[in-house]
Amino acid sequence: MHLSDRIESLPPYLFAQISKIIAKKKEEGVDVISLGIGDPDIPTPQHIINKLIDSAKNPINHRYPESEGLPEFRQAVASYYKDRHNVELNFEEEVTSLIGSKEAIINFSLCVINPGDYALVTDPGYPVYEIGTMLAGGQSYKLPLTAENDWLPDLDSIPDDIIAKSKILWINYPNNPIGAIANDDFYNKVIEWGIQHEIIIAHDLAYSEVTYDGYIAPSILEYPNAREICIELNSLSKSFNMTGWRIAMAVGNKELVQALRTIKSNIDSGAPQAIQEMAIEALTGTRDDIVEHNKIYQLRRDKVVHSLENLGLTVHKPKASLYVWAKIPDGEESSSAFVSKIIDETGVVLTPGNGYGEHGEGYIRVSLTTPDDQLDDALNRLNDYIK
Ligand SMILES: Cc1ncc(COP(=O)(O)O)c(C=O)c1O
Repeated sequence: MHLSDRIESLPPYLFAQISKIIAKKKEEGVDVISLGIGDPDIPTPQHIINKLIDSAKNPINHRYPESEGLPEFRQAVASYYKDRHNVELNFEEEVTSLIGSKEAIINFSLCVINPGDYALVTDPGYPVYEIGTMLAGGQSYKLPLTAENDWLPDLDSIPDDIIAKSKILWINYPNNPIGAIANDDFYNKVIEWGIQHEIIIAHDLAYSEVTYDGYIAPSILEYPNAREICIELNSLSKSFNMTGWRIAMAVGNKELVQALRTIKSNIDSGAPQAIQEMAIEALTGTRDDIVEHNKIYQLRRDKVVHSLENLGLTVHKPKASLYVWAKIPDGEESSSAFVSKIIDETGVVLTPGNGYGEHGEGYIRVSLTTPDDQLDDALNRLNDYIK
C-alpha cells in the first residue's frame, strides 16, 4: 500500500499529540489537569440548546443542507455584523456558512494557492494556516511575532522576491497562542499593503467575543477598503461556547467568498440546518451570556497571570482570547523539555510554545478553559513544584 506524499509530509497535529500524552498519563494513574487545549468548559447557553432541540424535530432539517448555508443563517450573520461591527454585508454574496473555521482555513488555501505559491503566516501561529498551505502544494513564509513588535508581523521585513510569490497573508487577532490584539494602525496598514501587492488578507477572528478589561475586538471589515482584498473567518466556537457544534462563517470580498463556496460545495454538504438555526439564536439573541463568560475567563486570566508572575515567569497579560503566553524560567532547556518535566512532576499539562512555530520556542501557553477548582489545583501544584 502506498499513501500520498502529502500524508507522509504532514506533521503530527499538535493537539492530537497532546491528547495522546494526556491519555497515556491517565492510564498510568496520574491525576492529570490539562491547561493545554482551548476548548471552553462552560456549556453552550440553554436558550441556544433549546433552539437546537426544537430544530432537530423539524423533518426539513433532516435533509441535505445547502453548502453555502440557509439564507436565514446568512441574514443572521449580516445582522450580527451590523449590530456588533456596524458593517453592512450583502448576505447573498458576502457571507457563507462553515463547518467550523478550521475546515475553511484548509479549503480557502485550496482556493488561493497553486503549487509553488507562498502563503505568509505568523510564527508563532495557529498551525492550520501552514498545514492548509502545504495541502494545497504551497510554501509558508514565516513572519515572526515578537514582544518588541507588539506581537504584530513586520510587513516591511518581507523580501521582495517573497512578496512576488505570495498570494495570501493569514492574520489572527485576538491571537492564538499569544492573546495579542492588533491596533487600528495595523489594520489600516495591512489592508493598504495587501491592495498594493495584490496579496489576499485572511483575518481569522475566532476570538472576537472573548475580551477583557472593556476591550472590543474589531472586524477587519470595519476598516476602509477592506472589502477589496479581505476575507474574514468568524466562528461561534469560542464566542458562544459552541466548539462541539461546528458552525462558523466567512464574510468579506464577494469573489473570495464565492471561491470558498465553490470549493466547499464540492467537498462538503454544508453545516446541519438544525445547527445553523441554533447559530441564528446565538447570533441574534442576548449578549448577556458573553458578558458572564468573559467575567469567568477574566478572573481565571488574573489568577493565572498572578501565579505565573509570582513564580518568576515573564507573562503577557492578554486583553482577549483564551490564552496566557509566558516565557519559561531562565535556565530551562526548551519549551518541550519544560512542559514534559511539568507533566511528569505535577500532572499539569501546558502547551509548549514551539508547537506554534520556532519563534514560540522559550514560551508556554496556558489555556483558561479549565474549571476553577481544577485551575486552582493546577496553579497550586505548579507553585509547589517550581518553588
Ligand atoms: C486561531 C484559531 N482559528 C480557528 C480555530 C478553529 O476554530 P473552529 O474550527 O472551532 O471554528 C481555532 C481553534 O482553536 C483557533 O484558535
